[in-house]
Amino acid sequence: MQVKSCKLTNFRNYETLETEFFSGVNLIAGGNGQGKTNLVEAVMLLALSKSPRTSHDEDLVRESQSLARVELVIERDFGKMKLECVLGKETGKKFFINSNEIKKVSDIFGNLVAVYFSPNDLVIVSGSPAERRDFMDTDISELSGSYYNLVQRYQKVLFQRNKLLKTVHDKNLIIDQIEVWNEQLASLAGLIIKTRKSFINKLAPFADETIKFLSKDSDTLQIKYDGARGETSAEIKEEILKSLRFNLDKDMELGYTSIGPHRDDVVFELNGRDSKVFASQGQQRSIVLALKIAELLVFERELGEKPILVLDDVFSELDSARQRKLYEKLAGFQVLMTGTYFKFKPSEDYLMMTVKNAKVKTKFVEKKEK
Ligand SMILES: Nc1ncnc2c1ncn2[C@@H]1O[C@H](COP(=O)(O)OP(=O)(O)O)[C@@H](O)[C@H]1O
Ligand SMILES: [Mg+2]
Repeated sequence: MQVKSCKLTNFRNYETLETEFFSGVNLIAGGNGQGKTNLVEAVMLLALSKSPRTSHDEDLVRESQSLARVELVIERDFGKMKLECVLGKETGKKFFINSNEIKKVSDIFGNLVAVYFSPNDLVIVSGSPAERRDFMDTDISELSGSYYNLVQRYQKVLFQRNKLLKTVHDKNLIIDQIEVWNEQLASLAGLIIKTRKSFINKLAPFADETIKFLSKDSDTLQIKYDGARGETSAEIKEEILKSLRFNLDKDMELGYTSIGPHRDDVVFELNGRDSKVFASQGQQRSIVLALKIAELLVFERELGEKPILVLDDVFSELDSARQRKLYEKLAGFQVLMTGTYFKFKPSEDYLMMTVKNAKVKTKFVEKKEK
């Protein structure tokens, strides 16, 4: 799939913008603060239903304006579609597909499938477990609106169970009431953990293959889900139910639920060692890059179509050998990459997009024949 064009109105620092993208590599260059990230953020908004860098939708609306609009024309194997997001400071966020408003946010997922990588994503390796859970949940949701809904439902039930633990102090009363929540929570947890494990299992071989490719076979990467045991959702549900009951006294004391998918983690082992503790910054960057490429390949397999890749300010941080190898690996994909400067240009045709003060100039560069 590819993004053909993008039209912005009062989005971030853009008053109005209309621009087209190329089906291959798009190099988005320009000085700091000109609007490079804002442009790719607009694209990601329609893939993720939210910005990859802020949870405050009102930040996306241009200063002193009340309404922002992002319109993308995308091309899938089956044809073109128009995806649109309207953000009102007062009226909230609405999505449209071919000009029809969608009823549930989850319906936007799966139309534009894009993998995003920015320097901030190093927290997937170096940050707290919450970052790794967020990585899984955001990325699984891209292909599956029903997974997104599952996580929302889990959060609601969790909130109810925690409320009970926090507000009631009589153990017998809690025992009377908590089983209803345990049952629902465990059932949703079984489905969530099962889905996450299968995502990790699909990702792992591609990530290992990619890290070997990028490091000329010197590195290996293993990825493990750290949470309740079990293969099927029914097995996981039983494990969770047992732990919820076993930990009741502890949870009562804490006033919240101490086990479940909202506490799970993922371990990335680079050459057999936990990369959170042992990997250098450069290695962490390689791990996240490998993860993102792996995701691209998993999504491609699941969709039967190539998703798009957005690299925000990470390409120029890679050493020249990795930059060259990356171009090689990404042949055939649409790639949007931002940077202040590109030392290595693709050897195939590409589009040079120069961003200056929220204006974009494009120049198509044809492959040099040897
Ligand atoms: N809601 C907004 N309204 C107006 N300008 C904004 C808004 N949000 C961000 N900006 C401006 O956008 C610029 C940053 O753009 P960005 O795309 O992040 O830059 P870069 O080209 O370095 O990636 C800054 O000048 C910032 O002030
Ligand atoms: Mg930027």
